[in-house]
Amino acid sequence: MLIFLLSSSGHKPHLNMNLLLFLFVFLGGNSGVGKDTAVSMAMRGARVIIACRDLDKAEKAVREIKFKSHSLNVFHMELDLANLRSVREFCKNFIQREKRLDILINNAAMPGVLDCTDDNFSMCFGVNHLGHFLLTNLLLPRLRECAPSRVVTLTCSSYKYQKLDFQDLNYNLLPFFTYCRSKLANIYFSQELARITEGKGVTSYAVHPGFVQSSWTCHYSVLFRMLMQVIMWMFFVSSEIGAQTVIYCAVSDEAAKHSGGYFVDCRPATLRPFARDAGVAKKLWEASERLVKLV
Ligand SMILES: NC(=O)c1ccc[n+]([C@@H]2O[C@H](COP(=O)([O-])OP(=O)(O)OC[C@H]3O[C@@H](n4cnc5c(N)ncnc54)[C@H](OP(=O)(O)O)[C@@H]3O)[C@@H](O)[C@H]2O)c1
Repeated sequence: MLIFLLSSSGHKPHLNMNLLLFLFVFLGGNSGVGKDTAVSMAMRGARVIIACRDLDKAEKAVREIKFKSHSLNVFHMELDLANLRSVREFCKNFIQREKRLDILINNAAMPGVLDCTDDNFSMCFGVNHLGHFLLTNLLLPRLRECAPSRVVTLTCSSYKYQKLDFQDLNYNLLPFFTYCRSKLANIYFSQELARITEGKGVTSYAVHPGFVQSSWTCHYSVLFRMLMQVIMWMFFVSSEIGAQTVIYCAVSDEAAKHSGGYFVDCRPATLRPFARDAGVAKKLWEASERLVKLV
């Protein structure tokens, strides 16, 4: 797996969309892949909003993105995906404040940790899936108004190590597997979103960014962090390279033809058959609607 990532790191997207005046929203844009994607979009003239839970980190990230992109059109808004009230509040403020939403990047994630959200969902399922699910649904009317628009959702190739258990969607036993399930949920979400919005001008993509040097290890012990620092330095790609497939799905004409697709290294990739099951995707969507009280 690591060799695959290293050999795949050179792909650059073919950007052929004029981004001037486009509005991008990044969830979790204050570090890692999200921050580098934001720099790239701001450089191309887009108005960029990063949505973050920690305002100090957000302000620092905005300064850095502005500095690197030479753009002043970068802002932050407060959002905690581990709290569904915060998600609703964010969407309300966003709709009042912003008239456009062209591209939404569902980038934020928690790695496998045995913790719960404020709404008592397991941290991975709650933040990585339900938070994005509710937010995307609440912003969907604005995305439709601004069609053609896109939603890019970050997933991980580790989706393949788990299947969803509808008797226990909130599974919180083994940290790595809770993460894998949440990333599988991201794929089903992205596919069902594509199906629901088909013909309505909104397209949806799931992206595995590769294994990327980022700050996800900050949630673990010092010893694990030190070990991972070495492994990441040796085998993982930079977050700038990790951002390339996200940028590709956000702006390229080629990607636009593959709504509902799963992308790796700036091209569509094949999912395991169980991850392409439209029945499961629909069932997860309906279950999620009930869990976040959309219905
Ligand atoms: N890194 C990899 O090797 C890898 C591999 C495959 C897939 N991915 C996926 O790529 C995406 C980006 O990963 P990354 O490596 O760049 O991770 P990262 O550096 O850890 O960034 C994750 C972002 O999510 C934010 N976040 C976490 N919980 C949040 C919450 N409750 N509310 C709002 N924001 C929250 C974090 O904010 P704070 O700074 O406040 O925590 C941070 O900005 C993720 O979806 C991840 O699953 C990464």
